Amino acid sequence: MCPPASEGARHRVEQDLPPSRESNAARVEQSRLALRRADLFRQQAFVGGAWVSADEVIRVVNPATGGLLGTVPRLSQPQVIEAVAAAEGARSAWSRRPAAARASVLRRWYELVTTHADDLSRILTAEQGKPLAEARAEITYAASFIEWFAEEARRVYGESIPAPAANRRITVLRQPVGVVAAITPWNFPAAMLTRKLAPALAVGCTVVLKPSELTPFSALALAALAEEAGLPVGTLSVVTGDPAPVGEVLTGDPRIRKFTFTGSTAVGKRLAARCMDTVKRVSLELGGNAPFIVFDDADLEAAVEGALISKFRNTGQTCVCANRILVHEAVREEFARRLVERVATLVTGDGLAGVTDLGPLINAAAMTKVRGHVEDAIGRGARLLWGGHPLDRPGNFHEPTVLTDVTPAARLFREETFGPVAGVVGFFDEAEAIALANDTRAGLAAYLYTKDLSRATLVSEALEYGMVGVNTGLVSTAVAPFGGIKESGLGREGARQGLDDYLDTKMVCTEVGVG
Ligand code: SIN
Repeated sequence: MCPPASEGARHRVEQDLPPSRESNAARVEQSRLALRRADLFRQQAFVGGAWVSADEVIRVVNPATGGLLGTVPRLSQPQVIEAVAAAEGARSAWSRRPAAARASVLRRWYELVTTHADDLSRILTAEQGKPLAEARAEITYAASFIEWFAEEARRVYGESIPAPAANRRITVLRQPVGVVAAITPWNFPAAMLTRKLAPALAVGCTVVLKPSELTPFSALALAALAEEAGLPVGTLSVVTGDPAPVGEVLTGDPRIRKFTFTGSTAVGKRLAARCMDTVKRVSLELGGNAPFIVFDDADLEAAVEGALISKFRNTGQTCVCANRILVHEAVREEFARRLVERVATLVTGDGLAGVTDLGPLINAAAMTKVRGHVEDAIGRGARLLWGGHPLDRPGNFHEPTVLTDVTPAARLFREETFGPVAGVVGFFDEAEAIALANDTRAGLAAYLYTKDLSRATLVSEALEYGMVGVNTGLVSTAVAPFGGIKESGLGREGARQGLDDYLDTKMVCTEVGVG
C-alpha cells in the first residue's frame, strides 16, 4: 500500500528554505537531470490543452538528496473543474474518430516515449529515487502499455445474440464510458499512468489525470509527448494539486463516468465510496501483502534470485513486492544464508550519481514505517541477519534488511511494509503454507517455488490472489491482466481485459418487419 501522499507533503514543509536559496537549490537539482530535451521537465499543469500555473505551488523533493527538484501548480477546484469540462467537450469527437485513427495517435505517442526514454528515465529517478536502470525499465514498461492498447483499439468487438423471436435482432455494442478520472501513485510515476491512459484513450474516452504530488514531473513529461503526438485538446488533462480538493472534484463531478485509482487500500475505499453518489464505474488497484513460498523441493538458487527481484524491486515499494517469505523448515536456514549473501552485494545510493541496485524510500513517513516493522519483528523474536538500520546520509535511505524467525503476529507479516525488508517465516507442510499465505485481507500477488508440477498447479489454485508467479518473482507485463481480489482491488489493467473497465455494454433489441 502506498502511504498517503499528504505525509510526504508534511515532511517537505519541515524542509522549507528562503525563496532565493530554494531556487538555487532547485537549479542544482535540475542541472543534474542533464536532459537532451529540457522542455520535457514541465513545472506547469496541463488543462484543456493549455499549460497553466496557479496562485500557489507544491514543492517536489528528490528523495535521494532531500533537495528541492521543482514546483508544480497547486490547482484550485475551479481549475480542476475546467479540466473536466474540457474532457467532456472533447469526448464526442474523440469517441467518434475511427479506432484506427485513435490507434495511430497512440502509436505516435509510444514512439515519442521510446525516443525520449533516457530523458524520461532521468526525470523519473530524480523525483522517485529508483535506480536509473530500473527507471529505464519502467519507461519501457510504460511504453509497452501504449503500444499494446494502440493495437487493441482496433479489436473492440461487440456481439450478435440469436434472438428468441423471428422478428427480433439483438446486438451488443461496446461503447466508451465517457470522461475518466484517474489518480496515480508515486511508486511508478510513468507506468501506472499509461496502464490507465492508454486503454481509456484507445477506446475513445477522455481523461483527467491527477498524478501523485510527490512525483508529478513524469506525468507532465508524458503529457507533453502526448500533445506532441497529436492528442486533441481536452482529451487529456494533467491536474496537479492537493489530494483532498482535487479528489473531491474527481469523485464528485457527475460528468465523470469512470474513476480509476492506484494507491493505498484505505484511501481507495474512501474514494470509491464517494464515487457511489454519482454511481461511477470504479476500478481500484490497492495494496498487497504478497506471500513468497519456497517449498523444500525448490531450486534454491532460482528462489533466492526470484526473492531478490520480487522483494527489492523499487526498494521494496511495489504493491506486488514479496512481503512475507514463507520457507519450508527443511531449507529455511540455507535459503536465508544464500539470501543474505546476495543482499550483501546490493548497492544503495542516488540513482543519478552512480550505478545502484536500491534507491531511497519516498519520504520520512516511509522510513518510520520500515523502522517500525523491523523493530516490531525483532521485539517479537525475529533474528536480524542483515542490515536493519537507516543509512546515515542525506535522503531517505534504509539498509536492505533480512530477518528470519518472523512470526505471523508481526506487523511485517500482517501489513504491507513497502520497504527493503525481507522477513522469512518457516512452515512445515503445504497446507500450512497455503493457510499462512491466505491469512490476509489482501489478494494481489503471490509467488511459489517448487519443481513439482502438481504442487505448482494445486497451490496456485488454492492461493486467494489475483496473480500467481510460479518459479518467478516478476509477473508484470502489458499483455497479462494485472489486478487483485479481496481488498486488493476491482478490475484488471493491461491485457485484453484492460479495455473492459473503460467500456459500457449496450444491448440493442430491434424489431424487424418479417412475416
Ligand atoms: C504496483 O506496484 O502498483 C505495480 C507494480 C507492477 O506493475 O509491477
